[in-house]
Amino acid sequence: MAIKSRVFPLVVFSLIGVLPVSTALAEPPGQGAVLSASCAGCHGTDGRSPGSIPPIYGRSAEFIRTSLEDFRSGKRSSTVMGRHAKGYTDEEIALIAEYFANRQDEGGD
Ligand code: HEC
Repeated sequence: MAIKSRVFPLVVFSLIGVLPVSTALAEPPGQGAVLSASCAGCHGTDGRSPGSIPPIYGRSAEFIRTSLEDFRSGKRSSTVMGRHAKGYTDEEIALIAEYFANRQDEGGD
C-alpha cells in the first residue's frame, strides 16, 4: 500500500493546481453563468442595466450577494427583486454574485 499513499496526495495536489487554469482557458459556461442568464433580461449580460434598472456591473460579489439575500428575506424592499431572489438557494446566490463580480475583469469597458 506504499504506492497508494504516495500517489493519492500527488493526485489531489495536481488537481488543485490544474483546475483553475483549465477553467480560465476553456471557459465553459459554468453554473454561475447559467443562473445569471435570468438576470440578463433586466440587468444586461454583464450587469450594465439599460434604462431605469440599477446597474450591477462593477459591483462586488459581496454587494450582490447581500442585496439578493436582503431582497429575498424582505429586509430590503423592492418591486421585483424580492420575488426574483426567492427562487435561489444561498449557494446559487453565491455563484451568481461571483459571476457578475468577475464580469469587470474581462475588459468590457
Ligand atoms: C424583472 C427584471 C429584473 C430581473 C430579472 C432581475 N432584476 Fe435585479 N433589479 C431589478 C430592479 C427593478 C431593481 C431595483 C429594486 C427593485 O425595485 O426590485 C433591481 C435591483 C438589483 C440589485 C440592487 C442594485 C443596487 O444598486 O442596489 C441587485 C444587486 C440585483 N438587482 C441583482 C440581480 C440579479 C443577480 C438578478 C438575477 C438573479 C436580477 N437582479 C434579476 C430588476 C430585475
